[in-house]
Amino acid sequence: MQEEAIGNNIIMNEKHLDDLVSYLKFPSVSTDSHYKENVRGCAEWLSSKIDEVGLEASIHETPGHPIVIGKNKHSEDKPTVMIYGHYDVQPADPIDLWDSPPFEPLIKDGKIYARGSTDNKGQHLAHLLGLGETLNENGDLPVNIIYLVEGEEEIGSPNLEPFLIENKEDLDCDVIAVSDTGMIGPGMGTFTYGLRGVACMEVKVIGPSKDLHSGVFGGAVANPCNAISKMISSLHDLDGRIKVDGFYDRVKEIEDWEKTAWSKIELNENETLDLTGAPELFGETGFSDNERRWSRPTAEVNGIGGGYQGEGSKTVIASESFVKLSFRLVPEQDPEEILNLVRYHFEQCKPKGVRVEYEMGHSGKAYLMDPQSGYGLAAQRALRNTFDSDPALIREGGSIPIVQSFKDVLNVDTLLLGLALPDCQIHSPNENFSIENFYDGIRLNRNLINEIGMIH
Ligand code: BES
Ligand code: ZN
Repeated sequence: MQEEAIGNNIIMNEKHLDDLVSYLKFPSVSTDSHYKENVRGCAEWLSSKIDEVGLEASIHETPGHPIVIGKNKHSEDKPTVMIYGHYDVQPADPIDLWDSPPFEPLIKDGKIYARGSTDNKGQHLAHLLGLGETLNENGDLPVNIIYLVEGEEEIGSPNLEPFLIENKEDLDCDVIAVSDTGMIGPGMGTFTYGLRGVACMEVKVIGPSKDLHSGVFGGAVANPCNAISKMISSLHDLDGRIKVDGFYDRVKEIEDWEKTAWSKIELNENETLDLTGAPELFGETGFSDNERRWSRPTAEVNGIGGGYQGEGSKTVIASESFVKLSFRLVPEQDPEEILNLVRYHFEQCKPKGVRVEYEMGHSGKAYLMDPQSGYGLAAQRALRNTFDSDPALIREGGSIPIVQSFKDVLNVDTLLLGLALPDCQIHSPNENFSIENFYDGIRLNRNLINEIGMIH
């Protein structure tokens, strides 16, 4: 195995990096059925890699994409740790905005550029290679491992919760570790003890049975595009607060210690402007940037359509319009209840002259654990050993809905030890993963299983 030092003290094991490159070449886009075979190919590659590092791999079929599992030989006197990740990726669109092809990994300036590099292949492959290194050196692991990687996280994990319920005994474990979240900065180990939840809905507004001349009929029939704009604008007041009755009823307030801790790691305004490219910041009045992103609920339009989209103007009243909405939720909010409140809100405020149809999408609850629990502290020690400094304690704005299902079904906490940097371009063109973090992830895995092994 060739090892070479590059840049900032990174010891680069080339075989590990080759594995990452091979893994990133699969366009395992879960949402688009055209990629079904690539998704399967990716699962098969991972399964052989699991065998190669010395765990026993199995592929489990689901009504959707397969789940891949690796286990070592379990023994009763060791704690059982599940390591979870997802091998599916977001679509690469808009392809034109990538500087290099999304499924031809490119290593440049200490980063590897490819769709899925940070979300989430690089992160969970690091764990697998860490397990492989420990097995190689010691012939054994200090814990029982269930390495579980699914292919449907980016579409809301529709088949994983049923799989957990069906295989509850086989998946019985003491704690779960996931690296699918962020780090506050390079070299700054980060322990995430909370995630926002999410609830999605699509609303269609239907007016005349066909597109109409806006001069001949305009003013006499309702315009679905106007109507949907009015409905969307009814969601917020000018202070960025959501106007749906009951929306905030269950929202858990931010603790004082969190406010203090988060204020110390707040990005300054220019950093957020740089990362987002937004002309200025905007959010709910009375909350800081971190508070808004990590612990306040939101209502977002993710897609909107209707009417003429081509060049120039066309004087038309479209027969339909639609909006794709998602709501980020915080602890204690219930996704189903929120979607019902929003639907009721729209029913009250929908303009006259149109019909409205609703399609409820996938959803998942927010997650919150006690960072000072035994396993929480073990995770923080592992981060401290890996990054040589005290980890930051944060919540994240993104969602991994299965994490709360792990709690509900398996009754275990999930330790979120993210390795994604703020500029990793997650879900965007030019997604990238820091190579230093890839190797740090391998060390983090080794430290984590040692720390957890020592608790018992
Ligand atoms: N890895 C992300 C979640 C994430 C990103 C957590 C950044 C914390 C920080 C995950 O792959 C993701 O994108 N989740 C989706 C979930 C949805 C499709 C149900 C999300 O958050 O939109
Ligand atoms: Zn994602």
